[in-house]
Amino acid sequence: MNESKYILVTGGAGYIGSHTVVELIQHGFVPVIIDDFSNSTEQVIDGLMEITRADIIVRKVDVCDFAKTKSIFEEFRFDGVIHFAAFKAVGESVKEPLNYYKNNLVGLINILDLAKEYEVKNIVFSSSCTVYGSPDGSRIVSEETKLQQATSPYGNTKRIGEQIISDLIKSGGDTKVLSLRYFNPVGAHSSALIGELPMGKPNNLMPIVTQSGIGKIGKIIVYGNDYNTLDGTCVRDYVHVVDVADAHVKGLSWLMKQENSLEEYINIGTGKGTSVLEIIHVFERISNTKLNWSFGPRREGDVEEIYADASKAMEILEWKSNKTVEDAVSDAWNWELKMKND
Ligand code: WQD
Repeated sequence: MNESKYILVTGGAGYIGSHTVVELIQHGFVPVIIDDFSNSTEQVIDGLMEITRADIIVRKVDVCDFAKTKSIFEEFRFDGVIHFAAFKAVGESVKEPLNYYKNNLVGLINILDLAKEYEVKNIVFSSSCTVYGSPDGSRIVSEETKLQQATSPYGNTKRIGEQIISDLIKSGGDTKVLSLRYFNPVGAHSSALIGELPMGKPNNLMPIVTQSGIGKIGKIIVYGNDYNTLDGTCVRDYVHVVDVADAHVKGLSWLMKQENSLEEYINIGTGKGTSVLEIIHVFERISNTKLNWSFGPRREGDVEEIYADASKAMEILEWKSNKTVEDAVSDAWNWELKMKND
């Protein structure tokens, strides 16, 4: 193999970042993780070493610290950057908007600035379906769907992040940026050595379901059953985190083949919608566990139904999701059980 292809993975000890590090190593890249460990633990690195049997290069760095981040670009000659590092809790962002704008935007600007200075041309940006806001009319969104006002400061940091990238590309130079707009990443690595590690009470449905199933938290409240959907509960596009990780490797490889500067946006979803009640029923069937849940009022800011038109990912990256929602629920449950036993 030609000389090592070092890839900077910011937030690489996080949920999607750690699963992407596994896929990068398995595809012959050498990931260099920088993470401030504000939303992950060193145990993730142990899990990565056990899965990949490789030495994991990791540096405890906050991407908002320009000087420290610059020192990593001095230490390694990167062929690409995958930028995950960001705060991502929708509810928390409403309470602490300034923290979210500062952390998510300063971090991105530092990375773009340093990538330009050190001529790292290939950048994958972790974006989100939240840039679509509450799409009026169609429930299935393609990359051409008109972006609506984001429904939270978190979603707005992704929207502004994409605009910052767009302005950078328009200013000239030879940077190539691919923004991947994830829908709802769920599940865990099949080894149950890495998975979603919500610090404190989880916000998202899947960890709430598995933690309730294991008795770590109490009753689940289903936020609203009067939506105009099949069973009255909200519909989302739940995509297995290992498939999301694979999309990053395919995205990076695609970028490396492109000659000229570009900005591209691609949905990463299954193209199928699943309701809250369906997730609950799948979990009960797979785990053979009866969940304690009841209907409650709608949650502020929730979109009624949204799922991806994933055709562009197939056309450009030859990527599609392979794992099912059942696989994701099963892997998430195995991960929860493993954490309990540890
Ligand atoms: C899913 C559904 C809730 C908890 C997330 C991230 C966002 C973005 C997209 C990455 C909703 C319902 C939840 C509960 C419930 N990802 N629910 N009871 O809101 O789609 O957004 O994915 O960028 O950052 O936040 O995901 O898992 O919070 O909710 O009924 O106790 O489950 O109402 O309909 P959401 P979620």
